[in-house]
Amino acid sequence: MADTLIRALVAVEGLDAFDVQRAMPDDPNFELVGMTDGVDDTVRMLQTRQVDVLLVACQGREDDRSLQIIDGAHRSAPDVPIIVLASTSPNGFLRRAFEAGAADMAIFPQTKEQLRFAMSIAIARHPGQHAQQTERKDSRLICVLGPKGGTGKTLTSCNLAVALALAGQKVLVIDLDLQFGDVGLCLGLPPEKTMYDLAVSGGSLDEDKLGDYIMTHETGVDVLLAPARPDQASAITIELLRDILVVARGAYDYVISDTPPGFTAEVIATIDASSDLVMVGTLDSLSLKNTKLGLETLGLMEYDKSKIQLVLNRADTRVGISQHDVVAVLGSEPNIFIPSDREIPRSVNEGIPIILSRPQSYAAASFHDLAGLFVTTRPGPNGSDSAEAAVAAPERATRSLFRFKRK
Ligand SMILES: Nc1ncnc2c1ncn2[C@@H]1O[C@H](COP(=O)(O)OP(=O)(O)OP(=O)(O)O)[C@@H](O)[C@H]1O
Ligand SMILES: [Mg+2]
Repeated sequence: MADTLIRALVAVEGLDAFDVQRAMPDDPNFELVGMTDGVDDTVRMLQTRQVDVLLVACQGREDDRSLQIIDGAHRSAPDVPIIVLASTSPNGFLRRAFEAGAADMAIFPQTKEQLRFAMSIAIARHPGQHAQQTERKDSRLICVLGPKGGTGKTLTSCNLAVALALAGQKVLVIDLDLQFGDVGLCLGLPPEKTMYDLAVSGGSLDEDKLGDYIMTHETGVDVLLAPARPDQASAITIELLRDILVVARGAYDYVISDTPPGFTAEVIATIDASSDLVMVGTLDSLSLKNTKLGLETLGLMEYDKSKIQLVLNRADTRVGISQHDVVAVLGSEPNIFIPSDREIPRSVNEGIPIILSRPQSYAAASFHDLAGLFVTTRPGPNGSDSAEAAVAAPERATRSLFRFKRK
């Protein structure tokens, strides 16, 4: 998260300005635009400076001027999210602060990391000018994430997409690893058109326009590729991403977003817009710890736990960690286990997802199982479950940790 520049304006009311300033993040990607005192000063700064977020640091009393500051700031700069930093939070004050236009509230003092996180979330969540809710009621946006690099997010995104397409679903994969995206490589698609081309094309976005920048895999999976070069990533703004997600959800049964490691601004915006999350971790103590932290972060973001599917990759690796240990660390049993398979690196190198190159493998079966968690089951002919049947892999043995046979 520390990689996104945050320009914050801080209005102080009834607290020691020096204490408030000292509490601000001190990483190079945090810029304190200024400290203001009162409504006029705050509004003037909002109108003349580039501000991503306004913090109103106050005592949280109903009669203090902070409510006027929030109200004035919200009216003059509705695009700037406002976080109330209050030393107390009586109910009456909170209600009035939200009515006046506050986006979030945090108790002061906070650690620098907590404060940065609260600001990132408020910025990512703040509705842009363009966000219109036009998504189809039954379409799903599945955000595949993992707090660490190399856990198997891209592998999971690509194989899940193909499994859903094989089950007759209309699927789009969006590669949100904007700097180092490799969905194209995994699916063997050349970067002829990318999200960068879409970003620099100008004009408004609709289904037809999105279609102009999409590459199609032989299975019918559509892909919006990440920019071909890291320096092009900055062309993709959060506003554009929000528009893409809304338009894509209107056009597809399933939109799957592959993400970079960690909670970057675009990842937070996608999590907020998503209907489901797939959290991918691997079976080693470091990765488990990070997966747990990731789940805790989703908890802080108040994400509905029942919409998170936990995938444990390389689940048969002999590393001295028992199934009991996994459940004890993560607090719940993973939903899907993917075994280590030396055919996987080969399939990645060849650009053919393992679900196609080794359809009989346990790994392929695991991805079909994962798809089965999402496909809405509708009763088929003779009372059978058609969607369930469609995602069924050749072997649907009950898979569990350490139960994969070595091939
Ligand atoms: N179950 C597995 N068995 C064997 N190799 C695997 C397995 N899962 C992943 N790999 C290998 O690990 C590499 C990293 O996987 P992948 O690119 O999917 O991770 P990622 O989480 O997307 O990484 P990043 O965060 O860098 O984008 C792949 O090249 C793949 O070959
Ligand atoms: Mg990846």
